[in-house]
Amino acid sequence: MNEDATQAATIGVIGDVHLFWDDEDVAFFNRGGYDLLLFVGDLAAYTQVRGQRVARSLRKLRVPAMCIPGNHDGLHAFQLGAEIAPRAHRLRNSFCVGQARRCRRLADALGEVDLVAYGKRRLAPAGIPLNIVVGRPHSIGGRRLACLRYLTETYGVDSMESSIARLSSLVDACDDAPILFLAHNGPSGLGDRADSIWGCDFRRKEEDWGDQDLEAAVSYAKSNGRRVLATVAGHMHRKTKAGKSRPAQLEKDGVLYVNAAEVPRHRRVNGMKRRHHVKLTVTAGDVTAEDLWV
Ligand SMILES: [Fe+2]
Repeated sequence: MNEDATQAATIGVIGDVHLFWDDEDVAFFNRGGYDLLLFVGDLAAYTQVRGQRVARSLRKLRVPAMCIPGNHDGLHAFQLGAEIAPRAHRLRNSFCVGQARRCRRLADALGEVDLVAYGKRRLAPAGIPLNIVVGRPHSIGGRRLACLRYLTETYGVDSMESSIARLSSLVDACDDAPILFLAHNGPSGLGDRADSIWGCDFRRKEEDWGDQDLEAAVSYAKSNGRRVLATVAGHMHRKTKAGKSRPAQLEKDGVLYVNAAEVPRHRRVNGMKRRHHVKLTVTAGDVTAEDLWV
């Protein structure tokens, strides 16, 4: 395996799909040009039936692909409502019943597309060695863990602290190759304004809406001498409720952070349908991200 610096892998990052996916997207990625595809989750939008339809289309991809479940994936509409509502703790827990089955069904529909949560994959796209560490599934952002009962029963995660421990153990299981984090929501620590890359734009109070466990995992990796290339996520749509634009990417302490959530990712431009994704170019020691509308 040749790992010289001129060699590069191309990774397509697809932001929150929210049903904006069709066979032309499949055809585009199957035409070549990408070594790996990363879906940041939220294939569905409120109904599981239509999310399954997107998943069955994704299974026609002939490029290796991974997907983390978002807060719309494996949750029915009432469950999602309870997760968003304040003080609905008991409802939230009772709606978690059946979530494991719903997630299994989604994984089956996805076929070879790897539905991963709290996981690690050692890959070498185009010969570039890479550890992909996949974060907490179904994240809704903020300080509270969404789908707590499901996370506890399925992953033994019952608090932000135990989620940090779980992510840190995934980092410990990585070899010397650089790490790329894949998550649904991005990490905290990157801004507390409504239009920060993962800032809260739906409450009167502007605040950091990033995931604290993910921020802790990235700094744990770095403090252990790991090379963290990038963290890619979505969830907080780039266009805020007030109509402002979040940064699509930023670099902090040598890590590239990408928010791929351009929603909707299908748009008409001058009468032509355009489709969004982010192209990552990864070399043995570096990464760049470029927004593409194709
Ligand atoms: Fe989301």
